[in-house]
Amino acid sequence: MSDSPTLDRRPEWAALEDHRAQGQPQLRELFAADPGRAERYVVRVGDLRIDYSKHLINDETLALLQELATATDVFGLRDAMFRGEHINATEDRAVLHTALRAARDAVIEVDGENVVPAVHAVLDRMSAFANRVRSGEWTGHTGRRIKNVVNIGIGGSDLGPAMAYEALRAFTARELTVRFVSNVDGADLHEATRDLDPAETLFIVASKTFTTIETITNATSARSWLLEGLGGDDKAVAKHFVALSTNAGKVTEFGIDTDNMFGFWDWVGGRYSFDSAIGLSLMIAVGPDRFLEMLDGFRIVDDHFRTASAESNAPLLLGLLGVWYGNFHDAQSHAVLPYSHYLSKFTAYLQQLDMESNGKSVQRDGRPVEWQTGPVVWGTPGTNGQHAYYQLIHQGTKLIPADFIGFARPVAELSDELRAQHDLLMANFFAQTQALAFGKTPDEVRAEGVPEELVPHKTFKGNHPTTTILARELTPSVLGQLIALYEHKVFVQGAVWNINSFDQWGVELGKVLAKRVEPALTEGADVPGLDPSTTALVAAYRELKEV
Ligand code: F6P
Repeated sequence: MSDSPTLDRRPEWAALEDHRAQGQPQLRELFAADPGRAERYVVRVGDLRIDYSKHLINDETLALLQELATATDVFGLRDAMFRGEHINATEDRAVLHTALRAARDAVIEVDGENVVPAVHAVLDRMSAFANRVRSGEWTGHTGRRIKNVVNIGIGGSDLGPAMAYEALRAFTARELTVRFVSNVDGADLHEATRDLDPAETLFIVASKTFTTIETITNATSARSWLLEGLGGDDKAVAKHFVALSTNAGKVTEFGIDTDNMFGFWDWVGGRYSFDSAIGLSLMIAVGPDRFLEMLDGFRIVDDHFRTASAESNAPLLLGLLGVWYGNFHDAQSHAVLPYSHYLSKFTAYLQQLDMESNGKSVQRDGRPVEWQTGPVVWGTPGTNGQHAYYQLIHQGTKLIPADFIGFARPVAELSDELRAQHDLLMANFFAQTQALAFGKTPDEVRAEGVPEELVPHKTFKGNHPTTTILARELTPSVLGQLIALYEHKVFVQGAVWNINSFDQWGVELGKVLAKRVEPALTEGADVPGLDPSTTALVAAYRELKEV
């Protein structure tokens, strides 16, 4: 056990509590007193312009938050991560997703071994394979060209590539059909394959452990579908199945030749694995060059996080702002609202990244935490959300800090008429953060001639904090930059909260119990030790199944 005081006993924590107790700063007043904050509270990294001026902070708040970061040695842990130390102590592993995007000549050692050559060897094999599929050189068992790619994986082996495929659709080979199957609900695989020709379909089985029940079950069903469609010749599997995994033994056991396996390593966490071999489906879709551009984008932000001063360090600032709201304003959630249809799955991806990493309630040494940790992350693309749940953000009772992500240009392939819609999209983007920050006072409402009894209803209190992230356009590099920005923000928060952001024991219990309950559903077996509620539910399910 460490001798340092727990987080909430630190003088820096108390200073922030005192600062908060001095009252809530009003954004209207903060901007009136200091219009320069609009330019000063901006940090640039790569192609991202990150404006944090609409936050409930002043220079003192920022200084106090920085002192907390220093006291909790966020940069010390960062350096240990980049050095390849086993900072994931509960699994005794290094945390080195940053090595996945390291330059070819970089040296990053894990337990004395430089891992960069192995990273690039896999990237090279992936590139060669992706090119063969894209060019038609890699054919299916009957000699037909591959036209469909189906990624089977779940969690970190699905959300990243599925999100990025949507994000970079404009860069994809449009003649390829790329789909993602994750749910063990048979409907998922059914819908993904029902209109496909097995002779033209490649399955990518993505699973770090290759033991995840959903993925192995779906992959087994996919194999049956394929063999049924191709006359039952087992040899077909070699041309239609590849595996992405760290577990060569299990891949072989499943029946996939390790020649058709693309590996990665235990120092890559599942939710941090998208830029490893797990990204193969995306690489096939966009081509190796675009994939490598995306990795360059990740690296820009890695280098920034590693080297930028505390005051201009974007992931540090975003992480600390989250601490400010979660721990000193009792904010329970954090909205991520991209104003890009192509980022429709971005927030879902961040949910795993953030909530699986920082949904923890014990400290690194096992003591319980006495402070709030990771927020509920949620959100969907604008403008759709504006017509659904923004009402609650504007006029509800909860404080919901939000990130707005937008682009100056739409993707190139839109028609002139559709491109022209982009300004309307972005007008909404700017209007929302303005309305959230500055609201509308009762006097302003009255000045519009609104009857007195409606004034309270039409008043917007404002003072809702937002971050605005703006880039020129959504390119592969910008996508990489955005993902790395959030990866490191999550890291910063885990470091401050003194939790291990890199294990995920909390998902284990449900998995174990599902295995225990399953025989009761499939075979009607009696399952000893089931609680009364679950026993009754299982009985009701069995009854409904029979009628
Ligand atoms: O159940 C959680 C989890 O372990 C995630 O962390 C992971 O991304 C997902 O399952 C899938 O795991 P795998 O890639 O080993 O199939």
